[in-house]
Amino acid sequence: MERTFVLVKPDGVQRGLIGEIIARLEGRGLKLVAAKFMAVSKELAERHYAIHKGKSFYDGLIRYITSAPVMAMVWEGPNAVALVRQTMGATRPHEAAPGTIRHDFALTVGRNLTHASDSVENGIKEIELWFSPGELVAWVRASDEWIFEDN
Ligand code: RTP
Ligand code: MG
Repeated sequence: MERTFVLVKPDGVQRGLIGEIIARLEGRGLKLVAAKFMAVSKELAERHYAIHKGKSFYDGLIRYITSAPVMAMVWEGPNAVALVRQTMGATRPHEAAPGTIRHDFALTVGRNLTHASDSVENGIKEIELWFSPGELVAWVRASDEWIFEDN
């Protein structure tokens, strides 16, 4: 089953949106397999956003992501990567579709509330970076067959 890494970024935590964001993913039918509320070290932030090093927004991005705690999570489901990106909405909130988190709660790209893996491959890498294997909980949810089955 596909997994994806999700962060409620510092602005989401400060604004009290952790519950709202979890509720949307849970409501869609995705299954939570790991979660931790944590401060982000500069080293972890730099590893997570290594791909953006050298870009104009990089220093601000590192300051932003380390400025307050985050809620780090792993969600599972068929097509979890694409589903979660869809629920988050476009990176730039003014381009995000109505009904998405970034449309409904954000205004600027610099305070866009969430991170979600952009490919299955990056999801695997990010889960490895943020969680130790023992923190991932493999469990059978009673409703799985009513949500995951394809017939
Ligand atoms: P994320 O990685 O956080 O899920 O967001 P994303 O894939 O939608 O966007 P990405 O291109 O990976 O950018 C990562 C984060 O960097 C910040 N950003 N700021 N000021 C800017 O032009 C700018 N561009 C990107 C955003 O916080 C974005 O989510
Ligand atoms: Mg990204």
